Amino acid sequence: MVNKAIIPVAGWGTRFLPATKAMPKEMLPIVDKPVIQYIVEELLEAGVYNIIFVTGRHKRAIEDHFDLNPDLELHLERAGKKKLLGEVRKISHLVNPIFIRQKEQKGLGHAILTAKATLGSEEPFIVSLGDIIIKGINTIDIMRQIYHRYGKSVIILFEVPRKDVFKYGIAKVRKIDNDTFLVEDIVEKPSPQEAPSNYAVVGRYLFTPTIWEKLEKTKPGKGGEIQLTDAIKELLKEEAVYAYKIDRNSVFDTGNKLDYLKTVITFALEREDINGELLEFLREKIEEKAKEKDKKD
Ligand code: UTP
Repeated sequence: MVNKAIIPVAGWGTRFLPATKAMPKEMLPIVDKPVIQYIVEELLEAGVYNIIFVTGRHKRAIEDHFDLNPDLELHLERAGKKKLLGEVRKISHLVNPIFIRQKEQKGLGHAILTAKATLGSEEPFIVSLGDIIIKGINTIDIMRQIYHRYGKSVIILFEVPRKDVFKYGIAKVRKIDNDTFLVEDIVEKPSPQEAPSNYAVVGRYLFTPTIWEKLEKTKPGKGGEIQLTDAIKELLKEEAVYAYKIDRNSVFDTGNKLDYLKTVITFALEREDINGELLEFLREKIEEKAKEKDKKD
């Protein structure tokens, strides 16, 4: 059973500055729950309770979020706010977190490598990125099923428009059946001309321990960072890597402003306590903007 996961959350979050100067981007709220909680809940639903967070400076809020907060709990208890108390307690009781520091932000590959001594180098493990929410499908379960069948590493992919391939790791794949593929090659942030496909890596991985030696040998690549994609490219020379393609509509990238806002709106529109008025507000805004545009034209 693959039951340990690493969540790297040590990045700078520069695309969200100044909001992320003193606060982790993983704590940005999606309505009333921080992004990181969605990532953790996907792991918990799949029975993965041992989670190693690779954190950095300014990331203390993540540690506090998964810890007990006796003062707050007492306050909620005294105020009779039972539902909220339940929510607050649930978070700290379910997860068994370990926090380690990546002292210098040398890239995603380096962040994962930082967890090696804590996780151990003998067993397969999961990596979930701290800013990508996946909705409506449990990718952890899927990766484990594929791992149990083939005994090899697994990554999750989704299709992106060709013009956007430069933002992602892009995989060249060969179909095995329906949505399962064998990875033939992988490139970090290629130009649309160089890209071997439009299948992008989504931020969910299950690795065999062979990845450790590949990460150790990986030199800084794109952007001067130790890239996980480059280590996977090396892994491919030695072992098969499988991939599973999920629907584009299941992927919510909260690491950039526009997709973050789309995520908040999508999740808010599903919340019965607020969706009626929100929809009304959005309709008014759209009409207002359309009128403004007509005036200009
Ligand atoms: P990103 O490039 O998306 O995150 O890295 P970032 O660096 O925080 O954001 P920008 O680009 O500056 O806006 C993907 C994941 O890898 C982690 C990030 O926290 C994110 O979850 N990461 C990245 C690390 O943990 N350490 C690093 O050195 C780099």
